Amino acid sequence: MIASALVAWVMILPSCTKEPVNDPYGDLPPYNPTPLSIQLPANMPVMEIPAYNPTTVEGVALGRRLYYEPLLHSSGNKSCSSCHVQSAGFTTQGTNVVPHLNLGYSDKFLWDGAEQGTLEDVMVFEVDDFFHADMNRLQKHNEYPMLYYQAFGSPEITVQKTAYALAQFLRTVISADSKFDRFLRHELSLTMEENQGFNIFNTERGDCFHCHTLSLMTDGDLHNIGLDSVFVGEDAGYYNVSGNPADLGKFKSPSLRNAGIRTSFMHDGRFTTLDEVIEHYNSGVKSAPSLDPIMTKPGKENGLELTPMEKQQLKAFLLTLTDSVYLNNPDYSSPF
Ligand code: HEC
Ligand code: HEC
Repeated sequence: MIASALVAWVMILPSCTKEPVNDPYGDLPPYNPTPLSIQLPANMPVMEIPAYNPTTVEGVALGRRLYYEPLLHSSGNKSCSSCHVQSAGFTTQGTNVVPHLNLGYSDKFLWDGAEQGTLEDVMVFEVDDFFHADMNRLQKHNEYPMLYYQAFGSPEITVQKTAYALAQFLRTVISADSKFDRFLRHELSLTMEENQGFNIFNTERGDCFHCHTLSLMTDGDLHNIGLDSVFVGEDAGYYNVSGNPADLGKFKSPSLRNAGIRTSFMHDGRFTTLDEVIEHYNSGVKSAPSLDPIMTKPGKENGLELTPMEKQQLKAFLLTLTDSVYLNNPDYSSPF
């Protein structure tokens, strides 16, 4: 379904940009969206952007507005930002709401990987299946038809265009300016303690880097890290999607960016401090056939066996991943 819709879009797009637009609203200015290139610092990987949804100033502005628009939800009073709150790192403190950052790099979404594909695909899911958004309500609005026209060349409001605008906005929501990013760009040094923590993180000592890969601090993939040995309900993770017992307890590796400001960790929020998380990796890993082999590789059968000082160093390193530039970036805040 989604694939065929995309093919149609790809074919229509070039003609939209050239031919006169069917204009039921009277005089429309020429359709002339402004291309926007997403600026990424040197330590960030290249972001692939699907050719069928190029980023434009108008598309991003529309997506940002829709993200904060309570009319988008079928109830008329809930927006994406009701749960994905910028000051909390686009999550809600104390919950398992997945933060929104660097989503343009992901192709697996939700804790259990239930949605996969492009950001456009997952946005169709969010708008249609999760929000049951009422396109008529936006169509009757006195501003949205014009904003859709400016972004996509026609004032007709569809789920697809709504999803595409949100995808464009979320691609621009980037965290790449933490202390650690600046260290990677040789703009500053870490303290001795943070540096020792980085060594633990990024070597076989802690083995964190396999799944929390630099600079995104996630490999975007699904793993069982030994939180449970019996899997009930949501704790079964990707197994609930694939039906394959090898996927029991597998969840998406979260980015560790801004982990330092969070108050709940893991898919079910079972830990409330970074110390508890570190202790899990240190001594709490439970075995199961689907456990990731990294968790019990030779020499680590009894956990990491970190000293209290090493745990402190690891935590100090994790705190360097807080990105206050992203947390306060006015470009991501409510346009209302
Ligand atoms: C009622 C609270 C709530 C609202 C409102 C909400 N979300 Fe979420 N969002 C969540 C929760 C909870 C999760 C994690 C759920 C899970 O993984 O099972 C999540 C996860 C996501 C993810 C997955 C991110 C990743 O890295 O895997 C995306 C994308 C997302 N939401 C987009 C949106 C968009 C777009 C909107 C608005 C259309 C929205 N959300 C509105 C609560 C909410
Ligand atoms: C085999 C892959 C893997 C390795 C190795 C790994 N992690 Fe994780 N990490 C994950 C996954 C997957 C989750 C989410 C698990 C869940 O929710 O059930 C996670 C969750 C976390 C969280 C919680 C983040 C949040 O937002 O909830 C932190 C913090 C964390 N890991 C830090 C570390 C540290 C520190 C190390 C090294 C000691 C490490 N991880 C090693 C895969 C891994």
